[in-house]
Amino acid sequence: MKQLIFASNNAHKAHEIRALLNNRFDIITLKEAGIFIDIPEPHATLEENASEKSLTIYKLTNKDCFSEDSGLEVEALAGEPGVKSARYAGEKASAEENNALLLKKMENISNRNAQFKTVISLIMDGKEMMFEGVCEGSIALQPSGNGGFGYDPLFIPKGYDKTFAELGIEVKSLISHRKKAIASMNQFFKKCS
Ligand code: IMP
Repeated sequence: MKQLIFASNNAHKAHEIRALLNNRFDIITLKEAGIFIDIPEPHATLEENASEKSLTIYKLTNKDCFSEDSGLEVEALAGEPGVKSARYAGEKASAEENNALLLKKMENISNRNAQFKTVISLIMDGKEMMFEGVCEGSIALQPSGNGGFGYDPLFIPKGYDKTFAELGIEVKSLISHRKKAIASMNQFFKKCS
């Protein structure tokens, strides 16, 4: 099976992506590839951060690889936390701290519209391609559910009345931003084969 390095050590994301790619590739994380670096995400857009991550790994390994950068964009907060989703409440903030800050900023705000966005940068045979996926929804008034990660306990996808954390990976895998970005990458793989 063809190997593809996933330029991340996020085990949750790797788990979701393996399921979404239907084991079409042997997806290995940075640690599994023996790469022990922390790639910075210094840019103002998900696209630039995704490119930085995959290009860094490609330059190091010369192997096919991909990265993804995702974020939660809240309409009433002008797109915050966006690229800062992972470190909204501070550099080393936990998901609980990020969620608490988001709820605090949304106190007394009735427009709860939000979307998750994923951008994938794939480098194959030295060429970069970008894929994108968006999942619309809204921010709950309080966290619910134990599944998933990050903002999942607060995000209610459009058409549902439960959070991603309550719906679980089965439902999330059908409708998520990551699912849509991977589906578009899969289309590309199908065209190539
Ligand atoms: P990064 O893409 O590694 O920069 O991380 C983005 C951050 O966005 C994560 O640490 C989470 O806080 C949040 N995030 C991205 N995707 C999801 C998701 O599917 N569910 C919940 N939170 C997410």
